[in-house]
Amino acid sequence: MAFKQLVAAISIALSLSAAQGAAVKEKRATCSNGATVGDESCCAWFDVLDDIQQNLFQGAQCGAEAHESIRLVFHDSIAISPAMEAQGQFGGGGADGSIIIFDTIETAFHPNIGLDEIVNLQKPFIAKHGVTPGDFIAFAGAVALSNCPGTPQMNFFTGRAPATQAAPDGLVPEPFHTVDQLIARVNDAGQFDELELVWMLSAHSVAASNDVDPTIQGLPFDSTPGIFDSQFFVETQLRGTAFPGSGGNQGEVESPLPGEMRLQTDHTLARDSRTACEWQSFVNNQSKLLSDFQFIFLALTQLGQDPTVMTDCSDVIPISKPAPNNTPGFSFFPAGKTMADVEQACAETPFPSLSTLPGPETSVTRITPPPGA
Ligand SMILES: *[C@@H]1O[C@H](CO)[C@@H](O)[C@H](O)[C@H]1NC(C)=O
Repeated sequence: MAFKQLVAAISIALSLSAAQGAAVKEKRATCSNGATVGDESCCAWFDVLDDIQQNLFQGAQCGAEAHESIRLVFHDSIAISPAMEAQGQFGGGGADGSIIIFDTIETAFHPNIGLDEIVNLQKPFIAKHGVTPGDFIAFAGAVALSNCPGTPQMNFFTGRAPATQAAPDGLVPEPFHTVDQLIARVNDAGQFDELELVWMLSAHSVAASNDVDPTIQGLPFDSTPGIFDSQFFVETQLRGTAFPGSGGNQGEVESPLPGEMRLQTDHTLARDSRTACEWQSFVNNQSKLLSDFQFIFLALTQLGQDPTVMTDCSDVIPISKPAPNNTPGFSFFPAGKTMADVEQACAETPFPSLSTLPGPETSVTRITPPPGA
């Protein structure tokens, strides 16, 4: 574990120096709206920002369109395989926008089910603003996250050329994959380790199901899907119970709260000896959650790209509102749940002691899917 944390720290240091290398070449500029940015080419993104906040995210909401835009970042970028390239096959281009450019192929891949909706919603903005699909996916994901209170400020770099080929099928993780499969996949895609795999799953803090179970759309993965917080890591550690409609579909297991969906992969990662302590580490530690997620989001959005020739336009990304209950590291048990419901799996550290929200047992409200879903 200590060795893996060291490796993660080294990869952070490498990524930061690459980002700094890019920043040195840039000239700061003032845009017509008065904002200062790292490079004058970034100014054009303020128009995109205003447009998507009004017309894609319905007034800067952390709703279904934001959730699916965040999901689209992962499903575009993770589709890269140096292992396939080493065997002489095309292994996908990573964060290259291929999921939009070749959408009829890629949104038909099983793990990408339901993403055709957000692809169709995003396409007109790409055409209108003349940006590349790869850059737009990264931008929309970063802006979507900023709409969810509690999110760290996301980095956004431009410079992704349009994909020339569809990614091959089989590279996007599925909710029924084993921990071995997940670790092998992220390791191939970006030399990520099992700790960084857990960091990626922090995105499920602001997420809801889309077609995992085609009969029930929009079931959140934690009780606070509109807030970027550690509740996802608390609630995935609680014992699951049978509710009407819970579990039973491929990749879906029983959840602790009515109306909440738990993916099988989240359940197993929370309990596997390789990942359980990292999973638990986010409980009551919002600052660790923020810094690890900020790092992994940038790394994902640069997969298959050369960061040293990209332009840092992070200044365009809004700063999110603080999470409510904004005491440092605020985590809690949902109403009706206590330490007795925790299936603690980390052998090294006890589960943090948390207070229980007052009131009747929590049930989770469905998120209304985007129009046409
Ligand atoms: C939060 O995580 C950081 C980084 O691992 C660690 O140094 C710090 O002690 C943690 N804080 C708490 C309250 O656990």
